[in-house]
This record gives sequence, structure tokens and C-alpha cells, in this order.
Amino acid sequence: MSDTVLEVKNVTKTYGQGDTKVNALVNVSFSVKRGEFLLVVGSSGSGKSTLLNMIGLLDKPSSGQIIIDGTNTTSLSDNQVSSFRNLKLGFIFQFSNLLADLTVLENVMLPQSIQQRHNAAQEAATLLRAVGLESQMNKRSNKISGGQAQRAAIARGLVNKPTIVLADEPTGNLDSVTAETIIQLMKSMAKKLNQTFLVVTHDRHQFGDVDRVITIKDGRAFEGEDQPHKMEITI
Ligand SMILES: Nc1ncnc2c1ncn2[C@@H]1O[C@H](COP(=O)(O)OP(=O)(O)OP(=O)(O)O)[C@@H](O)[C@H]1O
Ligand SMILES: [Mg+2]
Repeated sequence: MSDTVLEVKNVTKTYGQGDTKVNALVNVSFSVKRGEFLLVVGSSGSGKSTLLNMIGLLDKPSSGQIIIDGTNTTSLSDNQVSSFRNLKLGFIFQFSNLLADLTVLENVMLPQSIQQRHNAAQEAATLLRAVGLESQMNKRSNKISGGQAQRAAIARGLVNKPTIVLADEPTGNLDSVTAETIIQLMKSMAKKLNQTFLVVTHDRHQFGDVDRVITIKDGRAFEGEDQPHKMEITI
């Protein structure tokens, strides 16, 4: 198995046309290794979510390639993209997006690829214990707190054993104390499972030590953070 799980190659994304044209990403290239915990930072409107949406196969680049686990996803059909996304990617969003009518455990079992495993409920329960929700898993998901819901969302994001977990502002809706515990949880789960994480955040300082930071500025990607002379990444 290759050590490189993600290659973003010369990705450009342009929204609209003519007067309304926005160059949200401009020739972005970088690669990510298995187990890396990577933050994507940058000011509002810089292109962070656009980048995550491209890597998450929720939208297509205008040009360039997204290669995940050796597969060039830009050459997949729409059907293939859906199943590939299901198998290879885990998502954590700003809002936990749990289905209110289901229990916490049922929510964690929603990703399709776990449903095909015969011990799906046990695997989901093991993850829920690991994120500290042992006593909450049979409650309806609208009966738990915001922080607990985000823990459940982390378990759901991990349950596929995805190649990459993508998180867009996962603590954006939490108070700073709860955010801190969620950040530590993501980091410890990443270490325990050798799980690759790519996390977009406004709260760079709250994450403390991470393997790597990429800064997006005006749609371009730079290695590192907030340095006066950033090097644009090229390959
Ligand atoms: N669907 C869209 N249609 C048109 N323009 C868009 C669309 N999505 C994003 N944009 C534009 O692309 C640029 C990058 O947006 P993006 O959402 O990626 O920024 P961001 O870094 O995630 O910002 P924030 O920190 O506020 O979430 C912005 O100028 C935005 O207005
Ligand atoms: Mg965003």
C-alpha cells in the first residue's frame, strides 16, 4: 500500500463566468501521506471549503486531478464517485447533521459501507465507546448535547475506516471548552488509528501541535502558516 493517500494536482476551480467569475482555487498542488494530521487554514473566502469539497468529491475541479489511494477520481463516472466516496472518505461538518429520529448508534451505522459488514453494530459501538459515548448510544440523537453530537459525528466519520477524514470547521459551532475536547479527541483518534485527517479551521491555535499546516490565500496553497514569505506549493 502506498504511503501517499492523496495527491491534489494542479487543481483549479472557477465558479460562474464573465462578470461573476470567481477563481476559488488556482493551480493547487500538494500530497498527503497516510496518518498525517493536516490543517487547512486561511481567511474567510480564501477557498478552504472549495478545496475540501473537491477532495471530498462533492464537486468537480474545473481542471486538475484529485488522486485518492492511487485512483484518479476525475476519471470516475458519477455512480463510481458515489461509491468511491462512501468507501474511501469520512466527513465531519460544522453541524453534526445527525438524524434526530435515529439513535446515536443508528446514526453511526448510517454510512453504507459499514452496513455491509456482519458485525456493523459492534464496530459502531466500539467507536462510540472510544469517543466517550458509551452511555449515550441508545438515546435518540436529539437528546444529547452539541458536544456529544459532534463526538458521534466523529465516530460516524471514522466508521468506514476511510482513507481520509475530511472535516470542515468541526468545532465552528462549539464553545471553546467543548471545542478543545473535540480537537483533542480527533487528534488522539488519528494517532490511535493511524487515520489521515484533513481539517479546515479558523482556530489554528486551538489545535496545538499538528503534523502539517497548509494556508490557502486567494485560492492558492502555501506550505506552513502565516509566514511573511510563504512558498507556494508546486510539484
Ligand atoms: N457555489 C459557489 N458559487 C459561486 N461562488 C462560490 C461558491 N462557493 C464558493 N464560492 C466563492 O469561492 C470563494 C471561496 O469560497 P470558500 O467557501 O471555499 O471559502 P472559505 O475559505 O471556505 O471561507 P469561510 O472561511 O468563510 O468558510 C469565495 O469567493 C466564495 O464566494
Ligand atoms: Mg468554508
